[in-house]
Amino acid sequence: MVSPHNKLVIWSLPIMVALGSTWVWGQKQPAAQKTDSVAWKAPSRGDASQYAGIEICSTCHEDEARQFGKTVHAKAGVEGTTGAGCESCHGPGKAHADAQMEAGSDTAKIDAAKKLIFSFHSKTEENAARCLDCHSTSRDQDLFNRSEHKLNGVACNECHAPHLLFGAEGREVKEPMIAQGKFFSAPRLKEENRWLSESLLRNKQPELCFGCHRTIQAQFALPTHHRVPEGLMKCTDCHNAHGTFQRPLLKKSNWEACVACHTEKRGPFVFEHAPVKVEGCVICHTPHGSVTRNLLTRREDRFSCLECHVDPFAANVPHGRLGFQTRGECVRCHATIHGSNVSEYFIQ
Ligand code: HEC
Ligand code: HEC
Ligand code: HEC
Ligand code: HEC
Ligand code: HEC
Ligand code: HEC
Ligand code: HEC
Ligand code: HEC
Ligand code: HEC
Ligand code: HEC
Repeated sequence: MVSPHNKLVIWSLPIMVALGSTWVWGQKQPAAQKTDSVAWKAPSRGDASQYAGIEICSTCHEDEARQFGKTVHAKAGVEGTTGAGCESCHGPGKAHADAQMEAGSDTAKIDAAKKLIFSFHSKTEENAARCLDCHSTSRDQDLFNRSEHKLNGVACNECHAPHLLFGAEGREVKEPMIAQGKFFSAPRLKEENRWLSESLLRNKQPELCFGCHRTIQAQFALPTHHRVPEGLMKCTDCHNAHGTFQRPLLKKSNWEACVACHTEKRGPFVFEHAPVKVEGCVICHTPHGSVTRNLLTRREDRFSCLECHVDPFAANVPHGRLGFQTRGECVRCHATIHGSNVSEYFIQ
């Protein structure tokens, strides 16, 4: 994610320019402290004479150039720097441009000329390396090399499209069919605006992720679920697709990923229920979707209690002989099961 600070910087750029580069939200910052999340760095592949420059590329690749021109990448480059523009990703392209000019309509020659430029049809590492050239300095991508995505052959360009092409009317956006689905959905942006405002993603979430994660899609179709399919929440509220230190690609560890929103479960409580913070919320809840109320892992919650509070004669289950195990839910009485400030038995 862009840090809020950087988002602010991106969005307020036009305003800043309009007001003569003063910081409109108050404090003035010395220029040296204005940092992008990504360090601009002109790639140093080959010497300057091997680069053609964006004007040359644009003569033949009008569509890509037009779309590219709308993105932050087009603005990010230091003008006139070797390798800015198209060639910051595609590498030096003079040989390709010259060969294409010579090729005319000779298909064999066109094909040969195509091979003279890097076009992201390579191995995952090579594709990702092009982007990481610059993005290894950004906080959210610096762990990409250890992510399950990278390790399983998913490079940046599977999810991001630096110059997405649309038809004349733009790509069709499917509206949810049923009235209820429509009512509970967040308003949708026109596809191109979405692409530009949502990190150049090829497709919106969760469809982008569902494209590969079919089982997860099935989980979110169950009756109780976080409202991701409705567009009110995103996969990336809990996950970071770029890689983290927490499995499986969770933004924060264990229970912390959940209490970011469910703050009332954060505590600290005078009496903590150990598993909430040790095993984490997912020992009792499924994160995506389930058929049970409250996203519980068991149809009747007492069965999950009894997975741990298992021995009726052990000291920690005093009412084994009262047969509570078979008489309704434990949370009838143990109502503050996530932790309590008054009752060591989580009765209130
Ligand atoms: C599996 C899909 C996926 C892959 C692979 C992926 N990204 Fe992303 N990326 C996303 C999503 C989703 C977002 C939006 C995150 C959000 O809205 O919270 C995003 C956001 C971003 C952003 C903007 C926010 C930020 O983190 O600063 C950048 C920059 C970015 N990605 C760069 C990259 C680079 C570079 C790579 C390859 C090294 C890459 N991404 C690989 C899915 C992916
Ligand atoms: C004289 C016209 C011309 C110029 C100039 C030109 N290209 Fe191309 N380029 C082509 C043609 C033709 C193709 C093949 C398109 C196809 O097969 O659909 C192509 C293909 C490509 C491909 C895809 C290669 C592949 O393997 O599929 C990339 C990437 C590319 N060009 C980038 C660039 C860049 C970057 C520049 C500027 C440095 C550039 N081109 C300049 C005509 C040109
Ligand atoms: C930020 C990196 C980046 C920049 C800058 C960039 N491209 Fe690309 N380009 C890609 C990626 C990634 C792909 C492959 C994925 C795709 O098809 O979108 C690609 C694919 C292409 C293709 C082949 C499309 C196909 O059909 O396979 C062409 C042509 C191309 N780019 C031209 C350009 C031109 C012209 C520019 C400059 C105006 C440019 N690119 C700038 C990343 C970039
Ligand atoms: C030459 C350096 C460079 C290369 C190479 C590069 N980027 Fe970027 N990218 C940047 C800069 C600079 C920004 C702006 C960051 C900022 O303002 O914080 C950026 C921003 C982004 C964003 C955020 C866009 C937004 O609207 O907020 C995404 C997504 C992204 N890059 C993906 C990629 C992908 C994918 C590749 C490889 C195909 C790539 N970048 C290659 C320099 C680069
Ligand atoms: C191009 C296909 C593709 C896309 C798109 C994609 N993924 Fe993945 N993802 C994979 C593959 C392959 C793996 C590794 C195999 C596995 O665990 O399923 C993976 C692994 C993961 C994992 C780790 C699973 C584990 O067991 O460790 C998470 C979490 C994840 N993806 C979330 C996402 C999210 C969120 C998105 C959308 C922003 C997304 N993925 C988009 C292909 C994809
Ligand atoms: C409410 C937070 C949350 C949301 C939203 C979320 N996840 Fe997860 N996801 C988790 C947690 C927590 C786990 C670990 C579950 C475990 O350890 O049992 C997980 C596990 C996974 C896994 C690996 C384990 C498995 O079940 O295969 C994948 C892949 C995954 N999520 C993908 C996604 C995708 C794709 C989306 C969006 C459609 C998404 N997640 C939305 C919290 C979330
Ligand atoms: C020991 C098992 C257990 C653990 C661990 C657990 N929960 Fe729960 N949770 C439950 C049970 C049982 C219910 C149903 C309570 C009821 O019916 O009154 C519930 C209900 C909920 C509810 C809906 C009702 C409410 O109180 O708001 C939310 C939200 C919730 N849990 C979030 C979390 C979060 C977040 C975590 C991790 C910080 C967590 N839970 C950890 C057992 C657990
Ligand atoms: C981005 C914010 C966010 C995060 C992160 C989040 N939740 Fe939620 N959660 C919600 C919202 C909003 C609802 C209410 C959903 C609704 O009514 O559609 C909810 C509902 C729930 C419920 C009650 C479901 C029901 O039956 O109504 C449980 C249980 C729950 N979350 C557990 C978790 C767990 C476990 C995690 C961590 C894996 C988690 N949540 C992470 C926002 C979040
Ligand atoms: C993952 C294992 C686990 C699950 C599931 C679990 N607990 Fe616990 N519970 C513990 C542990 C560990 C303690 C701390 C025991 C201790 O301090 O002696 C504890 C403590 C308690 C206590 C306080 C006991 C005391 O002596 O202070 C109560 C009451 C309790 N649990 C009820 C429940 C109920 C009701 C459920 C089901 C909703 C449940 N537990 C689910 C592991 C679990
Ligand atoms: C009718 C109300 C009620 C129900 C139902 C109930 N409990 Fe309790 N439980 C209590 C009370 C009251 C205490 C405090 C016991 C005491 O004061 O000695 C307690 C104590 C406990 C303790 C702590 C014992 C100790 O001395 O450390 C555990 C663990 C526990 N219950 C687990 C469960 C589990 C698991 C279930 C469901 C199978 C359950 N309870 C159902 C009322 C109930």
